[in-house]
Amino acid sequence: MKIIMLGAPGAGKGTQAKKLASKYNIPHISTGDIFRANIKNGTELGKKAKVYMDQGLLVPDELVVDLVVDRFKKPDCENGYVLDGFPRTIPQAEALDEGLGKNGDAVEYAIDVDVSDEDIIKRMAGRRACLNCGATYHIVNIPPIKEGICDVCGKPLVLREDDKPETVKKRLVVYHEQTQPLIEYYSKKGILKSVDGAKDMDETFHEIVQIIEG
Ligand code: AP5
Ligand code: MG
Repeated sequence: MKIIMLGAPGAGKGTQAKKLASKYNIPHISTGDIFRANIKNGTELGKKAKVYMDQGLLVPDELVVDLVVDRFKKPDCENGYVLDGFPRTIPQAEALDEGLGKNGDAVEYAIDVDVSDEDIIKRMAGRRACLNCGATYHIVNIPPIKEGICDVCGKPLVLREDDKPETVKKRLVVYHEQTQPLIEYYSKKGILKSVDGAKDMDETFHEIVQIIEG
């Protein structure tokens, strides 16, 4: 099963992608998480990506596509995956289609998690992230058991550098310009499904599962 999660920054792509990965036993591939891991480990890729990410800009396509294609080669991708944050531009989507098409393969669902810009700005200020394991929380909606500590790995939670309000606004502008056109792209292919991401996260998940299971 090959699923793409679409949606603005903070729409809940990561939250839903993790639940899907666990339900269908497929890997959750988040390009944002891969970049953050590279930044944390001080790699060359991480250094390059950080310059763009901290400004709320997209990392250039050429740094992203090879990374994802490489990830697909791992054995855990045999039965599919849920892509979170990739593709994010039309050239990335075309590269993905081309790569899969070579093996007669294609994405089955592009799920757009729809949330208004106003709701997103409110959400992001409350998000706390674990930079060690990638888990995310919300101080009001989805709090960790112990304040400021990750339930999964016990490391401290942080406000992501790019979740500061000014950067969130910039990310929304970039989203509308560069990523939103993918909605039409996948709609034309007949695989676009939209869900209401403003609902409770379990309700949104239920909507997605109904799409997949019919
Ligand atoms: P990335 O990490 O992908 O960030 P993003 O798309 O901006 O999305 P977020 O992770 O911020 O949000 P999300 O939709 O996953 O929401 P979440 O589930 O956490 O990318 C970061 C940067 O990396 C980019 O800006 C770019 O520079 C670069 N990058 C990455 N991929 C790239 C690519 N392909 N090409 C180029 N550059 C790339 O939820 C948000 C919050 O809301 C959380 O606190 C959560 O707990 C809460 N929440 C979730 N669902 C609900 C709900 N239903 N109700 C209430 N609260 C909820
Ligand atoms: Mg995310």
